[in-house]
Amino acid sequence: MGIRKIVKLGDETLRRISRPQEKFDRRLEGLLKDMAETMYKAEGVGLAAPQVGILRRVAVVDVTEDHSGILELVNPEIIDREGSQTGREGCLSLPARQGVVTRPMKIRVRYQDRKGHPMELETEGFEARAICHEVDHLDGRLYIDVMDRELTKEEIEGHIPEDDAE
Ligand code: NI
Repeated sequence: MGIRKIVKLGDETLRRISRPQEKFDRRLEGLLKDMAETMYKAEGVGLAAPQVGILRRVAVVDVTEDHSGILELVNPEIIDREGSQTGREGCLSLPARQGVVTRPMKIRVRYQDRKGHPMELETEGFEARAICHEVDHLDGRLYIDVMDRELTKEEIEGHIPEDDAE
């Protein structure tokens, strides 16, 4: 299918709770491939299945600049959180907006890979932030629900005090 359409704020899909992914088949592989392609084309660092209209607990994350760090997260669950970080966040479903969001600094996430194998990852910083953001999507939660404040247009382009803390 290739590039999929990203649904935007106001679409009811973004507010629904996604169901667990139970089948590890070609269709899931296709979805993961399309989601990665869609994310890279939109220059995002993460994308959750409900953002492409699929209410399944599936997400992709890649915080690297050269697209070398793809994480395919099926049925992800954050099982441990440590510390906190406060910084800027955006979302492909809310273009041209950013907010300041406080997230755990370090997390442990349990998930399945595309074959259904159980996986566990400990990560921190920006990747931890991105994973928390995507897992929220699977429960119909958006960063605007949990943000400390919304950034102005000038702040989106420029520097904010919170950038120094990261
Ligand atoms: Ni998002």
